[in-house]
Amino acid sequence: MADHTLLFLCCLIVTTLLLTGVSGFVITVFSSYGENITLPCKNVIYQDCSSTTWIYYNKTCIKLVDHGKIRKENTYRADRLSVGSDCSLNIHKVKARDAGLYTCQQFLHEGARQTVVDYPLHLTVLKISSSLKQTEIRAGRTVTLYCSLHRKTTKCDGLVRTERLRLSWVSETGADLQNTSTVTISHLSECNISLTVELQDQDNQREWRCQLTKGKKIQTSVSRVTQWTGGILNTP
Ligand SMILES: *[C@@H]1O[C@H](CO)[C@@H](O)[C@H](O)[C@H]1NC(C)=O
Ligand SMILES: *[C@@H]1O[C@H](CO)[C@@H](O)[C@H](O)[C@H]1NC(C)=O
Ligand SMILES: *[C@@H]1O[C@H](CO)[C@@H](O)[C@H](O)[C@H]1NC(C)=O
Ligand SMILES: *[C@@H]1O[C@H](CO)[C@@H](O)[C@H](O)[C@H]1NC(C)=O
Repeated sequence: MADHTLLFLCCLIVTTLLLTGVSGFVITVFSSYGENITLPCKNVIYQDCSSTTWIYYNKTCIKLVDHGKIRKENTYRADRLSVGSDCSLNIHKVKARDAGLYTCQQFLHEGARQTVVDYPLHLTVLKISSSLKQTEIRAGRTVTLYCSLHRKTTKCDGLVRTERLRLSWVSETGADLQNTSTVTISHLSECNISLTVELQDQDNQREWRCQLTKGKKIQTSVSRVTQWTGGILNTP
């Protein structure tokens, strides 16, 4: 019961924070699908993490870490989480559905009121998805790769504007890819861009890279290799 009250309070704090939308207060963390990441906690009181609680919020509040311990029971991803020696939250092999708001809170003991303010972080995950399954990829087929910035609780346009973000498909040298006779690049939204390619023999083993920049600085990137076995589609 006490636990529910607390969680409700945590939620209230997080929700208030979202609604007030104090810009610049919530730090945005940019990650790429499959990466191991660390979310820092900057309000630690007890260095052994016994005061640290981590809350995850997407539509509901989920307590991931309780007094320094991973909660095994209610999270599908408990096995991918760990608490760092500095009470940071490590997420192993980040997935698109890990995107959302995380906040680090401090409670001096069970049932205590929260001390110090939240340390909220907004996690975004960059991921490529494909219109074709790996087994369908071969020369002669047309495939579309979507590169999307997954986020929860924030709208794409607002995030892109305040953080000055840009998504692009880039070459090995980091230059923006241009449309060619076989490649078409489209901006479906500011958080979702596509690359459609009519696969040629020379695209076997080719790596397609999508990059997220903030201002002039590269934040993160993801790539997908188009590959198949057996090369020639038609031998005359
Ligand atoms: C993530 O961490 C695991 C275990 O610590 C390690 O085996 C793996 O190589 C790491 N992955 C990346 C992409 O760094
Ligand atoms: C919120 O997260 C929980 C667990 O982390 C997950 O089961 C649920 O599908 C997520 N909800 C949304 C709307 O993403
Ligand atoms: C990106 O846009 C495509 C085409 O409209 C859509 O199918 C896909 O679901 C979108 N991806 C995301 C993550 O919104
Ligand atoms: C590529 O072509 C598509 C479709 O014709 C167009 O919408 C898009 O703006 C072009 N992209 C670039 C980078 O020129």
